[in-house]
Amino acid sequence: MSEQRAPGETVQREEHDRVRIFDTTLRDGEQSPGISLNRQEKLEIAHQLARLGVDVIEAGFPITSPGDFESVQAIAREVEGPVICGLARTSKQDIDAAWEAVRDSERPRIHTFIATSDIHIERKLQTTREDVKGQVRAAVAHARSYTDDVEFSPEDGSRSDVQYMAEVIQIALEEGASTINVPDTVGYTMPSEYAAMFTRLYELVPGLRDVVVSVHCHNDLGLAIANSLAGVQAGCRQVECAVNGIGERAGNASLEEIVMLLRTREPALGLWTGIDTTEIARTSRLVSRLTGYPVQPNKAIVGRNAFAHEAGIHQDGVLKERRTYEIMDATTVGLKSNAIVLGKHSGRHALRAALEEMGFKVDGQALNAAFKRFKEIADRKKQVTAMDLEALVTDELRGDDVAAFGLVDFEIGAASDRPPIARVQVRVEDGAIKLGESSGDGTLDAIFRAINAATGVDAALREFHVDAVTEGQDALGEVSVVAEVDGQTGAGQGVSTDTIEAAARAYVRALSVARARAQAGGQAIGLPEPAA
Ligand code: KIV
Ligand code: ZN
Repeated sequence: MSEQRAPGETVQREEHDRVRIFDTTLRDGEQSPGISLNRQEKLEIAHQLARLGVDVIEAGFPITSPGDFESVQAIAREVEGPVICGLARTSKQDIDAAWEAVRDSERPRIHTFIATSDIHIERKLQTTREDVKGQVRAAVAHARSYTDDVEFSPEDGSRSDVQYMAEVIQIALEEGASTINVPDTVGYTMPSEYAAMFTRLYELVPGLRDVVVSVHCHNDLGLAIANSLAGVQAGCRQVECAVNGIGERAGNASLEEIVMLLRTREPALGLWTGIDTTEIARTSRLVSRLTGYPVQPNKAIVGRNAFAHEAGIHQDGVLKERRTYEIMDATTVGLKSNAIVLGKHSGRHALRAALEEMGFKVDGQALNAAFKRFKEIADRKKQVTAMDLEALVTDELRGDDVAAFGLVDFEIGAASDRPPIARVQVRVEDGAIKLGESSGDGTLDAIFRAINAATGVDAALREFHVDAVTEGQDALGEVSVVAEVDGQTGAGQGVSTDTIEAAARAYVRALSVARARAQAGGQAIGLPEPAA
């Protein structure tokens, strides 16, 4: 307990103890199955990451699709503060695409990678160790011809022969890489092994002491945070991580966990980050809403129960002295800030001011749309809280204008002795409004069938989940849906005081994403084949 920070206590901080937070929510996170963010959604997340104070935003993998390229470019042009980074394999085309996408940022970075483990070199790349060395030399030199800020990653580093990997890293340094990231790509390593690997690399490559060395850990064995911690204790000063721990397979080290670990145990570790922790909860909610990946209730830091106390003995202890059972204060991560901000009679200016205070810049058409939604909700709810506004604005910003379909209106007709009948109006691609009508096995089934009829898409419901944004009977409901079209799935969310309306919005969005994936033959988030 003596290490726990007392209220108001400050700690002496040195620059060489600062751990940079490299956020890869929009790149590795976006590679999670079922996630497909559009440009507007990625921009919204990137702005929030900048508010959170991350050092680097890995905004995407520009060569993979025109959509990804445009999103990275938009983030590079609009988002100020963090370094904006684009991922590239070692081919010239990849590096050119990454550079084109990030070049308009004030602080652009190219991140190039190639595997150094024998299994990847022989089986995946079907080449030789010598060839990989040549590719690294050419790739880093080419990236450096564009920018001084070049990161190199030996993929599957933790399963690579450390002596060989050291030679590859030496080449990257000779060509001018300024960050070396050694990933545990498959989440296989253990903390003691990962730390020993870095200790050995520092011995074999003394030049590593002059650059930033980075960790990137996957969570296949649940060790992503433990391994990241082992890496920073061994001298690394950049952690690659993702909000809510999303990412390939079991995900990446979760940003909120590593940040709060470093902060809570700062007196013991002597390490710190530049993150504004009070933005953590909101960032987590935004990413969860836009990706459709719910946060498990018992998730560390941002789970619904992370600061809840069920057992009487715990409640009693916390009431007497919070620190008996809490090692962090919920307000430090931005939880429990649910002040009432607006009432039924609040006008457009008040809404705009409240949103600005919360960090949302909403003007013109977007303000009109947000105001309309606010009035609808204020008519139904007694009090509109900051959490309500946040949910509502996120819902409005979801970018239905770029999706294929948008819900315009719906009604349910129910006679007591007959199944309910739903009628919907849906905006389709050419802007026309199509009507759909269907009965169903319950109200939700009727509405989903009516949406299928209006869009002409034969979608099937795969997952359905309702959450309350705030407490109380008049709470805003948040519905998450996964729909499937021709074997491809898509996620969508909707927010309203009326659960049926929220479900209808969510279903139309999920159907749009799943249909787009089906049309792209399931390749929307896949990688093109490596260039010959
Ligand atoms: O897991 C991994 O190895 C990666 C690299 C591209 C850094 O994501
Ligand atoms: Zn990864």
